[in-house]
Amino acid sequence: MNPRRIVLAVSGGIAAYKAPELVRALTGAGHNVRCVMTRDATRFVSPLVLEALSQHPVGDDLFDSQSGEIDHIAIADWAEVVLVAPITANLIAKLARGITDDLVTAVVLATRAPLLVAPAMNVNMWNDEVTQRNLAALRERGFETVGPDAGDLACGWQGEGRMSDPAVIADAAERVLTAQSLSGQRVIVTAGGTSEPIDSVRSVTNRSSGKMGFAIAAQAALRGADVLLVAGETPLATPFGVDRIDVGSALEMHEVVLRELAGAQVVIKAAAVADFRPREASTLKIKKEDLAPDGGLQIDLVRNPDILADVCTEVKASGGKQVVVGFAAESHDVIPAAQRKLERKGCDLIVANDISRSDAGFNVDENAVSFVWPEGEIEELALLPKSQVAAELLDRVEKLLGERT
Ligand code: CTP
Repeated sequence: MNPRRIVLAVSGGIAAYKAPELVRALTGAGHNVRCVMTRDATRFVSPLVLEALSQHPVGDDLFDSQSGEIDHIAIADWAEVVLVAPITANLIAKLARGITDDLVTAVVLATRAPLLVAPAMNVNMWNDEVTQRNLAALRERGFETVGPDAGDLACGWQGEGRMSDPAVIADAAERVLTAQSLSGQRVIVTAGGTSEPIDSVRSVTNRSSGKMGFAIAAQAALRGADVLLVAGETPLATPFGVDRIDVGSALEMHEVVLRELAGAQVVIKAAAVADFRPREASTLKIKKEDLAPDGGLQIDLVRNPDILADVCTEVKASGGKQVVVGFAAESHDVIPAAQRKLERKGCDLIVANDISRSDAGFNVDENAVSFVWPEGEIEELALLPKSQVAAELLDRVEKLLGERT
């Protein structure tokens, strides 16, 4: 994506064992990571592990210069963000007072980069007034925090104090590094396929992994939007900072999206909505023994409402300024079919993708899309990771929002 320079400072709590995973999450996203550790942290995780994963030397000594420069200043200046994970109660207290008696505290004090800390400690240490006061002092100085989560703690207690998952911390770091260009905007994203019940165990559904819609929701949240993800069936985890409502059928999705529409500035309909549903769903399981021995089962399908078209009608009727984006998944005749859809539904932009390609679209992490505009312009994008397609799409959405204010 956009490789950034991240300093990971590790302090001496048991959650330090998750530091290698965090380095992997950050380098896996294409970032350049350098680690510094407190002496206590090296008792929980070997510097060698972080060195191998980050492919940079790992410092733990304020006076042991590896670069020939003054290390803590060189590292502090190099960073675009300094991430302290885990940060212990002790380190929070030291930073609140400006104590710099080791490499980690010196780097944190010397840097001009944004700071993000992920606390991890025993629940009672976390809840102690002095810890909360020290943390408030850090927040006042602009430190961002992620976590801690509640759950089973290494010390045997239960409660708040678990360091957030490395993937969540990596997302939080990404957010600190991203311009908050959608701050103050409420964005509704639909994703995944809807599922139309036949009986209590069977359903008619559309194929969709939900990955494209989830990538859009994640990107919008990184840019500071207040994101509501309306998700059909998908096993995907909710992206960092996103509110999620799970729905089953198209009728449920229709109800949620139209209910939430008035409070939103942007609607992006990446869901694969089933166009038809069984006229009647049996509340009990249909049994073969109740059917004629060799007979089939006739299912009468009726049309579902077109959510995107109804959203566009509602926006026009209410004189709303919402930006509405649809998707068109086509197996042939892609651009003309997307243009007809754009016209029929009346949205601001259609993202067309060719589902006959095996390297893009369904269930893969990349997509090759074209942006189809009402004035006839077509923008064809190269095959890109879905996160990058999402970023390109949100750039267009921001431009449309700018034109409407
Ligand atoms: N869509 C919707 N409600 C429906 C059907 C589709 O909101 N009942 C939205 C999808 O979320 C997508 C766009 O409309 O943003 C186009 O969906 P697609 O399935 O490609 O097209 P359809 O309108 O269903 O037309 P067809 O299946 O005939 O291609």
